[in-house]
Amino acid sequence: MAIEDLEFVQGFTRMCDDGFKQGWHERNGGNLTYLMSEEEVAEARPFFAEPREWVSMGVEDATLAGRYFLSTGSGKYMRNVAGDPAHNIGIVEINEKGSAYRIVWGLLEGAKPTSEFPSHYMNHCVRVMADPTNRVIYHAHTPGVIEMSFIVPLEDRSFTRILWQMMTECVVVFPAGVGVVPWMVPGGAAIAQATSEIMKKYPAAVWAHHGLFVSGPDFDTAFGLAHTIEKAAELYIAARAANGGSDKFLNVISDQNLKDTCRDFNVEINSDFVD
Ligand code: 13P
Ligand code: ZN
Repeated sequence: MAIEDLEFVQGFTRMCDDGFKQGWHERNGGNLTYLMSEEEVAEARPFFAEPREWVSMGVEDATLAGRYFLSTGSGKYMRNVAGDPAHNIGIVEINEKGSAYRIVWGLLEGAKPTSEFPSHYMNHCVRVMADPTNRVIYHAHTPGVIEMSFIVPLEDRSFTRILWQMMTECVVVFPAGVGVVPWMVPGGAAIAQATSEIMKKYPAAVWAHHGLFVSGPDFDTAFGLAHTIEKAAELYIAARAANGGSDKFLNVISDQNLKDTCRDFNVEINSDFVD
């Protein structure tokens, strides 16, 4: 048994590959982190190396202090993860203050966790408070969402309503909606703080002109959320183009349709986003 054979590592590498195959990970675009359980840490521990030095994250939150994450590497390509996990991903331990990490496995030859690790860590902290089962944070350069961010208001309510109205089951998959982070410089503490504020309210955050952040209790749910949001965004772009560029569609899913769907599927719609 190698560490690469552990179920959570297999699930992680498969998701990297799935995202690449969707066309969401040009070059080193996108990143993935996974909050390991105590049992998974115990399974992985025999493979840990001598820990490397502590590195400040530039953010601080004690919610997940002392926990371990599997993370993609900065500058690493999603398409290479499955073929060579030890060079492209790694396990990091968080310090007792929740302000620094150190690498305990993988990320060989001087590699580092994703430059978006501060955003991932802060998002994990707020999502686990919103949903104690949350384990996955995923960032992808989803083209439809990026395209949409150029032509619709960068505002939670209107962005969410457009997505909900593009495909009947969207509202069931993300009844709380999505939040929007305006354009910001990626890779630091400022975008991490802004995104985690949004993720207190929603399981997904759009990064204007950049891509998408999603969360979930497992790889399937997080990937499925990104897949659903991105498909709705692509449908909007295509339907609008087919409509001569206009956003006035002949037929629409009404607010009553959205509410009726949620009633029958037993999910609670974000009532601020429907009339
Ligand atoms: P990393 O290669 O550091 O993960 O950065 C990719 C990215 O998408 C930044 O937003
Ligand atoms: Zn990115």
